[in-house]
Amino acid sequence: MCGIVGHLGPQNSVELVLEGLQRLEYRGYDSAGVSFIDDQGNLQNFKKSGKLENLKAHLGAGPFVARSCIGHTRWATHGEVNDTNSHPHSNELLSMVHNGIIENAPTLKNELQAEGFEFKSQTDTEVFLGLMTVNLKKGLNFKQAIVESFKKVEGNSAFVLLDPVTTDIYAIKRCAPLVCGINAVQSEVFASSDPYALAGLVDKLYFPEDEVICHLSSGNKNLLNFYDLNLEKTKKYKSKNQDLSASVSEKGDYDHFMHKEIHEQPELIRSLTHYYFAGEGVPSLEKAISKKPENIHLVACGTAFYAGLVIKDHIEKLNRIRCYAELGSEFRYKDPILEKNDLGLFISQSGETADTLAAQSLCKTNGLSTMSIVNVEGSTLFRDCDDNLLIRAGIEVGVASTKAFTQQVLTGMIYSAALNGILENGEKKKDMAAKFSLLAERVDKILAEEKIIEDVAKEIHIHKGYFYTGRGIYFPIALEGALKLKEIAYVHAEGYASGELKHGPIALIDDSMVNVALVGPELYDKTISNIQEIKARKGIIVTIGPRGDEHLKEISDYYIELDFDGLDELSPIYVNVVNQLLAYYIARCKGTDIDKPRNLAKSVTVE
Ligand code: AGP
Repeated sequence: MCGIVGHLGPQNSVELVLEGLQRLEYRGYDSAGVSFIDDQGNLQNFKKSGKLENLKAHLGAGPFVARSCIGHTRWATHGEVNDTNSHPHSNELLSMVHNGIIENAPTLKNELQAEGFEFKSQTDTEVFLGLMTVNLKKGLNFKQAIVESFKKVEGNSAFVLLDPVTTDIYAIKRCAPLVCGINAVQSEVFASSDPYALAGLVDKLYFPEDEVICHLSSGNKNLLNFYDLNLEKTKKYKSKNQDLSASVSEKGDYDHFMHKEIHEQPELIRSLTHYYFAGEGVPSLEKAISKKPENIHLVACGTAFYAGLVIKDHIEKLNRIRCYAELGSEFRYKDPILEKNDLGLFISQSGETADTLAAQSLCKTNGLSTMSIVNVEGSTLFRDCDDNLLIRAGIEVGVASTKAFTQQVLTGMIYSAALNGILENGEKKKDMAAKFSLLAERVDKILAEEKIIEDVAKEIHIHKGYFYTGRGIYFPIALEGALKLKEIAYVHAEGYASGELKHGPIALIDDSMVNVALVGPELYDKTISNIQEIKARKGIIVTIGPRGDEHLKEISDYYIELDFDGLDELSPIYVNVVNQLLAYYIARCKGTDIDKPRNLAKSVTVE
């Protein structure tokens, strides 16, 4: 997913756009660029592969007197990472940036080349520049050119364009994130692919629907207008006050956002039950359970999918409602069996993951009710679903998801308990809230003693491969723990059901392989025997298990002791925090870019 920021107003646009891009760098950071109208009225375009620092060095010290600027951080889809393929793409008629994929780019490229348009880059984005150029040269005005060009492109995209003649900025999207913002006091207006870029910079946010042209205009009071594709003014947008302060964009005392976000978990856990049992979340929870589904299709990607596996287990055990946990990237290609009274339940931190959005659309087309467990209010998933349960995790900047996983699972468990009637039972509500509070307390303790985990990481980070093994409800936690390590430490790690290792993978075990064994109170004996099988083959055993277990101490090379009592079904979330810290400290030993790991983006808005 790419980061987009546009600004128009009396202040220095370039600095404001660069600040916004800095905040969005976690979304995609192969290259970056800005286009602006300088104080001579000339269109300037600077772009550079590599991190934002490279662009800043290329730009030079400034200051740049500019009142209109668009900027972009890229996560490459079409075309290798180099300066030419970086955005903005521009010519004498316009400059533009893009987030998404133009699926019919090859066909359009041939048509444009036949009309004499010369391509410089390998990107699909430049096709839109070609369409705009051809339309402007035909004498269409800027908005008309956008309409005609946008109608030709297929796929999920957001475009932000700069008109060098008027210095106005335009934005339009289809199934991709786009938000506008106004700072009335400064009389300035912004566009971005993420509200987070505008934190502390605007008072009000505007979320346009698909195929709405946002016109950011200069000069008069009327800074922001919305038009449909007939160029009629439209009200097809939602607005809300910006509740994000600039502080969310700071790491505070932490070296990494990921570490800061791991430490935010206890507070977030504590506040969630209040939100849904006695706070603003009550109506959304009551609405979500107003219809009891026949079956539930839980669809998500990556970490959110693993959260879905934990939620599936909880819903099935408590409500005896069959749940199908599905990978977003597979779901729409497997011709799923969808019944009218089923529920499509989509789990997503960003609410912009293309595969998850496509699954939601398939369920909607088949007449299912759809519900999200989502972090970003106003995201595409949030707007497309019939019901939404917000996970209240706050902005998650670290590309490796941590606090969102915890909040996704807990929100899913609250939904499950509500399906089972907890809202009508004060005692049960109190018990659940007490259990959440106990979990928060135990996580606080892990964080207070995180040096234990850091020391283990320092010992084991030199090894070549890692198995995370768990049984029952710890199996999804093994999968998630392995993903964390892969993502930020760039080492091979596999999550496996403990009982499955002997069916082949155990062939990999030797004295260079680490086995992180998750040992909960459940299925204890079976899990121990699996550890023994690995130990017998000289595997290095890191055990995360109940405190004071002499047998575990004896068979483990490293033993991280936890207090499970009273947590019950919350234990896996508790264990997962240890895995988050283990991955974090191994990555620190490796010296990788923990908040912006190579090849990754915070939200994958392409299929
Ligand atoms: C998690 O650490 C990863 N960054 C990735 O697997 C992520 O969970 C996945 O892309 C889904 O993102 P979403 O929750 O925003 O839909």
